[in-house]
Amino acid sequence: MDSKIESVLATYHEMLEKERGAPRVEAPGGRDGGRDMRMRAVGPRTGQLLNILAASLPNPTILELGTSFGYSGIWLAEAAQRAGGRLITMELHGYKSEFARDMADKAGLADVIDFRVGDAVEMISRLEVGIDFVLVDLWKDLYLPCLEAFYPLLNPGAIVVADNMIRPGNDDVKAYGAAIRAKQGISSVLLPVGSGLEISRFEP
Ligand SMILES: C[S@@+](CC[C@H](N)C(=O)[O-])C[C@H]1O[C@@H](n2cnc3c(N)ncnc32)[C@H](O)[C@@H]1O
Repeated sequence: MDSKIESVLATYHEMLEKERGAPRVEAPGGRDGGRDMRMRAVGPRTGQLLNILAASLPNPTILELGTSFGYSGIWLAEAAQRAGGRLITMELHGYKSEFARDMADKAGLADVIDFRVGDAVEMISRLEVGIDFVLVDLWKDLYLPCLEAFYPLLNPGAIVVADNMIRPGNDDVKAYGAAIRAKQGISSVLLPVGSGLEISRFEP
């Protein structure tokens, strides 16, 4: 891997270690209030798996739901760059997206990333491209509405990865797991990697 990318990942790993060692502080005003500064990132094992899966697809258009501060996006963008594709990443908060863009610049990956700010459910419905890879990693009650929005856009052979399927593993993610398995053309498996990943493939 390029040394600039390795150095950016090392910075994120330091941030993650600090976050995981510190007491959990929620932003005032709830999950979308104030300036939520928690990365809530997927972690290195999941990052590496995302990278391997996404880079296995030819010229992939990758959709990331929940940019946060950009950690998983670096793994996905590296795969996109290597495989001749691109990453579209969606985040509700502009300040998180800006941080992610600065880090992507430092990693030399900004050229393959399209940063979009706003509500992902609404922005997916305005996409006019086929999707080859999706990372679902935003608030859990949005997993199902996002699935309904991106499913019609999946290209044959597309891979969908949803995080947090085992931890916290609440009713919202269970509903997502059941719904994606019920979709036509989907085969799916739950893997105990990181917080639990539902990995699904679309072959109509
Ligand atoms: C678990 S974090 C994503 C972590 C990131 N994938 C990583 O591993 O670095 C979830 C993110 O989803 C964002 N989010 C919540 N609701 C959203 C929405 N409706 N549209 C887009 N992003 C949203 C939150 O602001 C938060 O930054």
